[in-house]
Amino acid sequence: MVTASDWASADPETALTLPARYFYDDELFRLEQERIFMSAWHLIGHTSELGEPGAFIVRDIFDQSIVATRGRDGRVHAFHNVCQHRGTRLVEEDRGVQKGVFRCPYHSWCYGHDGALRSAPRSDRLKDFDKSNWSIPQVRVEKFGGFYYFNLDPNAPSMQELFPGADAEMRRVFPQLDSMRLVGEKDFVVPANWKVIMDNSIEGYHFRLSGPHHVDLADLIDFDGYTLRQYDHWWTYIGPANQHATEAYGAPLHRAPRKDDCFFNIGLWPHNTFYTFPFSECLGTFLMIPLGPEKSLLRFGYYSAHETLPEVTQACMEWMNEKLGPEDIDLNIAVQKGVRSRGFDQGRYMIDAQRSNESEHLVHHFHTLVHGHIHGNAGA
Ligand code: FES
Ligand SMILES: [Fe+2]
Repeated sequence: MVTASDWASADPETALTLPARYFYDDELFRLEQERIFMSAWHLIGHTSELGEPGAFIVRDIFDQSIVATRGRDGRVHAFHNVCQHRGTRLVEEDRGVQKGVFRCPYHSWCYGHDGALRSAPRSDRLKDFDKSNWSIPQVRVEKFGGFYYFNLDPNAPSMQELFPGADAEMRRVFPQLDSMRLVGEKDFVVPANWKVIMDNSIEGYHFRLSGPHHVDLADLIDFDGYTLRQYDHWWTYIGPANQHATEAYGAPLHRAPRKDDCFFNIGLWPHNTFYTFPFSECLGTFLMIPLGPEKSLLRFGYYSAHETLPEVTQACMEWMNEKLGPEDIDLNIAVQKGVRSRGFDQGRYMIDAQRSNESEHLVHHFHTLVHGHIHGNAGA
């Protein structure tokens, strides 16, 4: 069996992939939970989703749940989704607007938008009860690239420290980032390890070699200009749109291709991904939220600055939900079935010297981050 230090020291161009157990083992998954996700930045939503005072979003990671809400003071707060009386989950809805207080369904303790206890029925009869001691513990929130995120680790590096340059890159590709709004969201529960899904999303090798919808997408991209770049904790791939395309996603292009039409994907460690497809005037979020060693929630969100979506944009969202997404999910499920085989342990990264557009260097980079965090040699 390959040791952890053997794996970490291998030359990427001849390296073997992470051993198969990393994709199903309970103990390795437990280490990922603690050492990756409990210190990770998790997407809450776009600034417009927390636009008005009282707007709130609930986000869960494993057995932890947080409420993020905009207070009347204009600030976005996040706190654990748990009543401080006997531990009841406070908010059951995924999102909404709470103009008043968050009221616990059990004994009606009420909390403000900052998580502070406002009232507790009959508490005036208690000895030494001071409401200010019963605020819900806060969770860190940061705004980055037009979106809000939370982090359960008070000592984690800030997003600016982890992802220098990523905010500017998002704004370069999405100049209307701040005026976008959520236009659709779709969840899939996928019977695959979160890294299987991640690996699939950060290599271009399979684009022209797998299913028919991938080939259709590849035809919309000018592959000669397609590049995959790795930074410390984030990565991008970008390719210009095919300037000869006349239709996309089953809809006619009603305008000439522009130089800024592109295929773009940016990933922020460990699992937040934003992308756009050629000619689609929307930003997609692609979140791989682990539910278990072999089960993940794959969440597709769609954001656009258009009041009325252009036909091609609408067609692209449907195509992603119904065609390309399921085609990739089938590939992910097939990988997950195979990683437990007694006939497989490690494959070979297809990394070339040029780090070309079909090279798997981003997969190796991502695995190096995973491995480093699990085994404690990751730096940040
Ligand atoms: S558990 Fe929330 S008020 Fe009692
Ligand atoms: Fe794919």
